[in-house]
Amino acid sequence: MNDNMLTMRNLKVVFPSNAGMIRAVEGIDLDIRKGECVAVVGESGCGKSVTSLAVMKLLNSPPALMRVDELRLDDEELKDYSETKMQSIRGQHISIIFQDAMTALNPVMTVGRQVDEMFLRHNDISKKEARKRTLEALELVGVPEAKSRANNFPHQLSGGMRQRVLIAMAFACMPKLIIADEPTTALDVTIQAQVLEVLRGMQQKHDVSLMLITHDLSVVSNVADTVYVMYSGKIVEKASVRDLFKTPHHPYSYGLLASVPKLSDTKHQFVQIPDSVPHPLRKPSGCYFHPRCRYATEQCKKEMPPLERFDNGREVRCYHPLNVTDTELQS
Ligand SMILES: Nc1ncnc2c1ncn2[C@@H]1O[C@H](COP(=O)(O)OP(=O)(O)OP(=O)(O)O)[C@@H](O)[C@H]1O
Ligand SMILES: [Mg+2]
Repeated sequence: MNDNMLTMRNLKVVFPSNAGMIRAVEGIDLDIRKGECVAVVGESGCGKSVTSLAVMKLLNSPPALMRVDELRLDDEELKDYSETKMQSIRGQHISIIFQDAMTALNPVMTVGRQVDEMFLRHNDISKKEARKRTLEALELVGVPEAKSRANNFPHQLSGGMRQRVLIAMAFACMPKLIIADEPTTALDVTIQAQVLEVLRGMQQKHDVSLMLITHDLSVVSNVADTVYVMYSGKIVEKASVRDLFKTPHHPYSYGLLASVPKLSDTKHQFVQIPDSVPHPLRKPSGCYFHPRCRYATEQCKKEMPPLERFDNGREVRCYHPLNVTDTELQS
């Protein structure tokens, strides 16, 4: 039996430009098991959105050139599917939740009708039955007074409520995989936590797979099962969320943890990572992270480290992986 909902092997995406080739994604493998929440984390520009668009084959070509050895959703190989076939896959099996609900929703249609449409598109049901399901769905994602809220237009709802409507819509077609690209970035911190809780609750209730994309490691701790840390188009660490927070092995993952307030409040002195990600046209030699890494050696400057397997399925791309213990992080 195939446990994987998504299997992607060796994804490469480049954007040709006058100044040279922008290598946005450089050979990424991604596995999402059935019912699993996988987070893809990394700073701006590291290739998270391009990866998620590639999974749905939504990259415009040109300008993008995409290559992948394997792209399987459940038991279906999507690699050579035409755009028409992909449209039916996207409509039926993959849902997307974007960061900006205001642009994702139709401003001149009530939110209730927009959720109705999702149910009507995927089921042979009456409008009345669709509305019944819409109200149930809105209640499930925590929209209070769903009956009257359903008659509101998007601009009449708060950002958090709009995001809940998008979640209700994403689940309406009972997809196999949901991709959420920075679903809570535009919201206040407290609302962010609530919306993520709703997303996680819905994901578990419906047992779908979730790919959660975020630049903020602190949002994944209560939501994700597995985390992929990306840097400059490559995976630098893959680990269970527990292992990653307990003992980050890649210096970049360790640095990202510094931005998690809960952890950085402890006495342990996290060292924030200096500088920023390299320009995609000026990636350094060797390990792309070496100019920002305080453990970098001559070897790191010359050779790209391979992604090595550790215990518990962890994978790390580093010649000098850290072994920070739990106690060091906590004390
Ligand atoms: N249409 C495009 N043309 C040229 N380069 C692009 C295009 N889209 C993305 N890129 C480049 O690909 C790289 C990865 O971009 P991507 O949008 O995936 O980053 P990201 O990790 O999602 O960042 P953010 O956190 O800011 O959303 C970047 O260097 C970006 O400049
Ligand atoms: Mg992005």
